[in-house]
This record gives sequence, structure tokens and C-alpha cells, in this order.
Amino acid sequence: MKKLFLFFAVLLATSVLFAQKAENLALTPPMGWNSWNTFGVEINEQLIKDIADIFVSTGLKEAGYEYVVLDDGWMDMQRDAHGNLLPHPVKFPNGIKAVADYVHSKGLKFGLYNCAGSKTCAGYPGSRGHEYQDAAKYAEWGADFLKYDWCNTEKLTTEGAYMTMRDALYATGRPFLFSICEWGGTSPWLWAAPIGHIWRSTGDIGPHFGDFKKNPNSWNPMSVLEIIDKNPQNEVRKYAGAGHWNDMDMLEVGNEGLDLYENQSHFALWAMLNSPLMLGNDLREMTKETLAILTNKDIISLNQDKLGIQGFIYAQEGAVQIFVKPLANGEWAVQFLNRSENPAELTFDWNGKTFKDEIFGYEIAFSKDNVRKIKDLYLGKEIGKTSSPTKIKLAKHQSLVVRLLK
Ligand code: GLA
Repeated sequence: MKKLFLFFAVLLATSVLFAQKAENLALTPPMGWNSWNTFGVEINEQLIKDIADIFVSTGLKEAGYEYVVLDDGWMDMQRDAHGNLLPHPVKFPNGIKAVADYVHSKGLKFGLYNCAGSKTCAGYPGSRGHEYQDAAKYAEWGADFLKYDWCNTEKLTTEGAYMTMRDALYATGRPFLFSICEWGGTSPWLWAAPIGHIWRSTGDIGPHFGDFKKNPNSWNPMSVLEIIDKNPQNEVRKYAGAGHWNDMDMLEVGNEGLDLYENQSHFALWAMLNSPLMLGNDLREMTKETLAILTNKDIISLNQDKLGIQGFIYAQEGAVQIFVKPLANGEWAVQFLNRSENPAELTFDWNGKTFKDEIFGYEIAFSKDNVRKIKDLYLGKEIGKTSSPTKIKLAKHQSLVVRLLK
């Protein structure tokens, strides 16, 4: 008996000592779909199966989207008598494993949500005090991804709580992509890289683009521009890289509230800043324009670029904000974003300009001896060379997104 106890004590100690997040995951920002932005807690088995089917039939899977993630609301309101989480009996009558199996049968990966606190943000049972039990359940069901939220966490500290869940996931022996969701409140970029693969750097997104006016007295989602204003700074970008990314939240592309140009700008900004590309729209009712944006290979390639450098702001000229991103093979991407509510025009003279990445040391200086071809990534064709100025005309909230080809 004593020997057995010792054996388990040593086993536990070593598994905790050497616990780590799963390796070789999210080497580029993860891509997928999450139920929350459109469906909230109104999710069910058929919806998730439909989403997995649409991944395949529309080419989303081929474009790189991989994870189908169930957000809050998949559980029953109570645990069972042994403390196990239960699938919601009406929404998931055949259990979670049946859904995971279906998603896997399409060659995709499956994700779940829970929370570090006593209850999830929508009031379902949280993992506090049940971390190892819950992790084992997710592994048994075949989950590949866990988004872990931060509601109802009185007196817990973020780093410790996320480390506990990381260790619990590791102890299952199944590789989980671990998505940290504490909304940026305790600067996760400073501590989360050894714990999770992505961490939310800001509060919840809403389908708003511009300077959405917040009511200071109530919780409100952030707009695309509000999130952007918090993300490209050096103190955030310098901590991102292969296997550990700033997460600007699930996309609102295709949701009511954003027009075509806003959708294009939003998608490109997430790509330029290496945020996970987690779709948040109703794929069953997506327009052709939305699908074209979401499967634009040139824009996705900026996000999935092997160099893995989060872009940064080069300058602002009038209403036009200019983001740049160094890419593999010495290429660069540039996004000219019209932030204003009115059309904007700009003549951008490349000659004599230098893009300099002070953090990661990449640099490009444009001159007569260093001329690049310019490809417009939403137009899908070359529009000139850096040897002469580029005339840019942008509608309200529109972007010109280009790759400077070698
Ligand atoms: C928080 C998260 C959201 C979503 C909801 C679910 O607000 O930040 O992304 O998961 O909880 O209740």
C-alpha cells in the first residue's frame, strides 16, 4: 500500500514538474470557426455538423481552416453526481463525442470551451476545482482545443489558474491547443507563452468597425478599430511567435454591422497582425463576397507566413493608417487603411522610404536600386512598382492591401 502511494506521489510530482503545453501546435496562427459571435449559447449538434460539412464543401478547409470550436453553452447546467460535466441533453442528445467524431471524420479538429472560474460567463459549470477531471473528459471525447475563459474567478490569479489547466491537459496525454481568454487584463503576453498557444489580448469583439462609443457603466463589445489600437504596439507584438500568438478575438467578417470594405479591412488586419483566424459568422448563410474574403489565399498567406512576425504601424498619413509586415524570403506586406467615415486619397511615394522593424530587425529601404513589384491582394493583380508613387483612393473604412514581390 505504502509503495503504491509512493509510486503515485512520484508519478504526480513528475507529471507536474515536467508538464508543458503541447508542442508543435499553432506554429502559425490557428484557423477555424467558433460558435460564439453568431450563435451565443444557441448551439446544437446539427449546427456543428453543418459547419463541418460547409468547411469541406465551400473550400474553407482547403484554405486552411481546421478547428471547429464549441463556445459557451454546450453543457448541462449541473454536473452529475460524480462531478462530471454533462453535455446539454437537448442541444447535444448524442453527447459531445458524437460531434467530435463527426468533425474528425471530415479531417478537421474539434474544440471546446470552459472557464477557470466556478461558472462560465454564461452561467454553466466552470472548471474551478475540477480541472483534471474536466481535462480527462475532453480527452475522452476527443477534443483537440480548449478555450479557457476568465469569468467568476474570485481570488484566482491568472497565471496560476491557466497553469493548472495546462498541466491538467498535459496529464491526459492528448495534445490540446490551449486558448487563454483573460481578455488582456493581466498582460498575458508577458507570462502566457509557456502556458498556452494563443491568448486574448483585448476584450470581446462586436460587429462594429469605427470608433464605437462605449457606455462606461456597462459591458460592451469592442469595435475592430478599438481592438487594433491596442494590438500592434511593440509591447504586445514582441511576445508573439510560432506557437504563441496574440489573439484579437474571433472574426466578425460576414456578420451584420460590417460592409464589404469593412470586412476586407478587418480580415486583412487580423492577417497582418498574426491573430488567429477564427471565423465567427453563420457559414450556412454566407454571401459569395464573404466567402471570397475568407478564402483569399493571398491575405491568408500573410497570416500564415513562416517568418511569423506580427505586423506593426509604419505611419499615419491623414486618415490613412499604414501597417507593414515583414514576410519570409524578404517580401513585405503593406495595408493602407482608411480609418475615417469619408473617402480618402493618398499618393504614396516609396522612393527614399524605409520600413524598419526595431524589434525583430527586419528592414527594407526603397530606392532606384531596390524596386519591388506591387500586388494588390484583394484585386488579385499587380498594380505597379515601387519606382513610382502609388495613387491610392479609398472609400470609407476601405483598405488597399499589397504584397511587395521580389
Ligand atoms: C467571454 C469570452 C467570449 C465568449 C463568452 C462566452 O465573454 O470573452 O469570447 O467565450 O465569454 O460566454
